[in-house]
Amino acid sequence: AVSAAPSEKADRVDTIAHRGASGYAPENTMAAFRKAVKMKADYIEIDVQVTKDGHLVVIHDNTVDRTTDGTGKVGSLTLDEIRKLDAGSFFGPDFEGERIPTFEEVLDEFRGKTGILIELKSPELYPGVEKQVASALSERNMDKPKSEKIIVQSFNFDSMKTFHQLLPDVPVGVLTSNKDHLTDENLAAFAAYADYVNPTQKLVTEELVNRIHDLGMQISVWTVRKPEEVKPLLEAGVDDIITDYPDYVPRNK
Ligand code: G3P
Ligand code: CA
Repeated sequence: AVSAAPSEKADRVDTIAHRGASGYAPENTMAAFRKAVKMKADYIEIDVQVTKDGHLVVIHDNTVDRTTDGTGKVGSLTLDEIRKLDAGSFFGPDFEGERIPTFEEVLDEFRGKTGILIELKSPELYPGVEKQVASALSERNMDKPKSEKIIVQSFNFDSMKTFHQLLPDVPVGVLTSNKDHLTDENLAAFAAYADYVNPTQKLVTEELVNRIHDLGMQISVWTVRKPEEVKPLLEAGVDDIITDYPDYVPRNK
């Protein structure tokens, strides 16, 4: 694999639509996920949090302020309150009326159509979220090895350890933007429970990719927002590219 030409590596790289095809439609909405499927993304990436009344919803920020016409913390609003918000207009008038999806809605519409990379966003704010996400997957029989393209990831490593104990057959990934997390010692510790180490692209070198592969893990890199960012990542040998623009990754052109 190390000696493969960039073009051969490009054939193997999976394209992951970051918050959906969020360069083309409002992030973390059904419109962005449908656009990603249309663009033949291998996976959609979604951010999962919990409402005041305990429902799993798909939104990136800890508040609704940036991406909706409402205000307040996700965890201080009920599902009913959240469902009334317009999550499309911030991106453009064509998307007026898009709603914040529930986690279950996304699973039910997109399973089988594309893979789903599920980020547990700020799980420390939502005790028990790991169990809740695991149950939603198990109820749908989506917790079996290789039967579904499902990966769960988080910046919170303890949360991923917990998730791995709950559903050992579902691959988990650790996210980081901190170089200090990528020492040999830390990578070996990740390998005990994680299948993916997913760093920000600034930290990616061929050497890092090889160290991750040598431990039997894969590497998904975020977040590509410029066409010229793709080639160096392919040359470094990454497994997946997480991007707002799925068409920037060559296999989709
Ligand atoms: O999938 C990786 C990426 O989503 C992590 O950063 O802030 O976009 O959730 P963020
Ligand atoms: Ca994310």
